Amino acid sequence: MLFKAITLAALAITAVSATPVKSKTENYIMYTLPPYMSKAQLTPVPNGVSMVFRPSRTLKDVSTSHIYNALSMFENFTQFYDIVVRTGGLEHILQQDHLRNYTIFAPVNNPNRSWSQFNFTKDAVAYHMLGNAYDLSSAMPDRVYRLPHNSPTTHVLQKGKYLQVNCALIVGKPIKASNGIIYPINFPLDPEKDYPVVTSAAIDEGADCKARYEAAFAN
Ligand SMILES: *[C@@H]1O[C@H](CO)[C@@H](O)[C@H](O)[C@H]1NC(C)=O
Ligand SMILES: *[C@@H]1O[C@H](CO)[C@@H](O)[C@H](O)[C@H]1NC(C)=O
Ligand SMILES: *[C@@H]1O[C@H](CO)[C@@H](O)[C@H](O)[C@H]1NC(C)=O
Ligand SMILES: *[C@@H]1O[C@H](CO)[C@@H](O)[C@H](O)[C@H]1NC(C)=O
Repeated sequence: MLFKAITLAALAITAVSATPVKSKTENYIMYTLPPYMSKAQLTPVPNGVSMVFRPSRTLKDVSTSHIYNALSMFENFTQFYDIVVRTGGLEHILQQDHLRNYTIFAPVNNPNRSWSQFNFTKDAVAYHMLGNAYDLSSAMPDRVYRLPHNSPTTHVLQKGKYLQVNCALIVGKPIKASNGIIYPINFPLDPEKDYPVVTSAAIDEGADCKARYEAAFAN
């Protein structure tokens, strides 16, 4: 029932030709896209809600900022940002390579109990970031895309207008920073809890994402 109530964003883009190729595992590879190639074309569907800026922050601040700082500029990510800062879960990756572009899946604030009160390990926080900028709007319906370099591999599935990351849903317009893209998701990813979903390839066969959703909020 909660799923239905959630506003979902699918992403539409016109000028991208990231043709997926079939891999041995019957999944598909999502090609990376440097942010500059996408220009302003990450056009959300009408129900893709915009994230809310923190006071005195603007779109220009965000688009010219490092992705790590961009994350701090939104009301909707304050809880996650707290955890990021406390655990250093993203910093240690960012420090390894300043030249990369990144994708961050950022959980929006939990309205009932701050995510910062949950027990996040540094690894769990790091799992939200990938060392490439992925344009998920190039996803084709009903195909499972594996975004490499994460363990367990992050899976993306476009199902109708729903764009799913492991079991989480993208609930807002993508945000473009100077060196990457932030996708707002409805609850945190977790390498341990997501493992059964992504390893069973069940993500496209009605994986029990409802249970996963409930587990996320019950932690
Ligand atoms: C984003 O934050 C604003 C302000 O706190 C809130 O009203 C809105 O519901 C949030 N959006 C989502 C998708 O959580
Ligand atoms: C990262 O994106 C910038 C443009 O924002 C681009 O110039 C650069 O080549 C990209 N770097 C990598 C490693 O893809
Ligand atoms: C927050 O709590 C309210 C009231 O108990 C409930 O209706 C709502 O579904 C909860 N939201 C989430 C995201 O758990
Ligand atoms: C938090 O998680 C770690 C690793 O899973 C665990 O060792 C620790 O006991 C947990 N702490 C609490 C308070 O649950």
